[in-house]
Amino acid sequence: MRKLPFLLILLIVIYLSGCSTTQNYKTLSFFFDGVPDPANDSANRVGSMINKTDTVALALRTVSKASPQKGIHPPYQDKQCKSCHDQSTMGKLIKPQPDLCYQCHVNFDTKYKVLHGPVAGGQCTMCHSPHLSVNPDLLARTGQALCLYCHESGTVMETEAHKGIKEANCTECHNPHGGENRSFLR
Ligand code: HEC
Ligand code: HEC
Ligand code: HEC
Ligand code: HEC
Ligand code: HEC
Repeated sequence: MRKLPFLLILLIVIYLSGCSTTQNYKTLSFFFDGVPDPANDSANRVGSMINKTDTVALALRTVSKASPQKGIHPPYQDKQCKSCHDQSTMGKLIKPQPDLCYQCHVNFDTKYKVLHGPVAGGQCTMCHSPHLSVNPDLLARTGQALCLYCHESGTVMETEAHKGIKEANCTECHNPHGGENRSFLR
């Protein structure tokens, strides 16, 4: 199910892109070191895809070549696309989340007694961007919106524990990943 939108985006982008071979090769080399010759058709198509979808990343990367930049995931900034994507299959992920992320990050399953639903379910990218974000911690959304994207505001706010929390960040009291108790309070 989760693969569908990704594939769709790829197909649309491939369809739309009519850039020149050299341009594609340039972009591709930029992201993947030692890419095949531009004569290679599939390499070209991945190049086109990157060219269209990651213009922003490219621009950011250009200004941040010298030093790591806030808001950019280091493996993305360092062009380690292959640590998550398989080039030979049009960029499919090399493994599902959360294992994809646990290649480099501490496994929350071993860290906490109780895991938050989306963490256990490998939905890291419901909260984090895997590439870059204008928000701290690569977050997709900030403040209460991060949590109320899934939790129903009315249901949350009516409980005793939440009376008068106003605009407070949910993460002031809750750990977003898991914890030692049922509600993973900090
Ligand atoms: C830390 C793992 C990781 C790294 C490193 C990474 N990606 Fe991704 N990428 C993902 C995930 C996960 C998705 C799917 C997004 C989702 O599930 O919401 C994705 C999606 C994409 C997409 C589909 C469109 C989009 O943005 O959602 C493109 C294109 C892409 N990545 C290109 C790249 C390129 C180019 C690099 C290297 C510069 C790279 N990625 C590095 C994990 C990664
Ligand atoms: C190839 C190694 C690698 C993989 C795979 C990887 N990360 Fe990271 N990630 C890093 C490094 C290195 C840092 C920076 C040092 C740190 O905070 O540990 C980082 C930092 C982060 C941060 C903190 C960013 C900040 O601004 O402080 C988040 C959030 C994150 N990664 C989420 C993810 C998620 C979600 C995935 C899976 C989709 C993932 N990572 C996969 C290497 C990786
Ligand atoms: C419900 C939203 C949510 C989900 C799902 C989520 N995170 Fe996070 N993550 C956060 C928030 C919020 C922070 C900011 C730090 C904090 O508040 O503790 C964060 C911080 C991080 C950091 C920075 C260092 C740290 O531990 O604080 C890493 C790495 C990270 N997350 C990885 C992951 C991985 C891997 C997954 C999937 C297994 C994941 N996150 C799932 C919300 C989430
Ligand atoms: C991607 C969807 C999603 C997001 C985003 C999300 N949650 Fe959850 N949350 C769930 C699911 C699924 C469960 C497990 C189902 C349940 O127990 O009701 C859960 C359970 C919880 C629980 C335990 C509920 C209980 O009955 O003890 C707490 C507390 C919680 N979430 C807090 C948060 C906080 C705080 C945030 C923001 C940092 C957040 N959630 C963001 C999906 C999400
Ligand atoms: C002032 C601290 C605080 C803030 C801020 C806070 N919570 Fe809670 N939350 C609690 C406490 C305390 C509990 C009850 C814990 C228990 O009984 O196990 C709780 C319980 C929950 C539960 C479990 C089911 C329930 O309602 O009892 C969910 C889900 C939850 N919070 C989500 C959220 C979300 C989403 C936000 C942000 C909109 C948020 N919380 C902000 C302290 C807080």
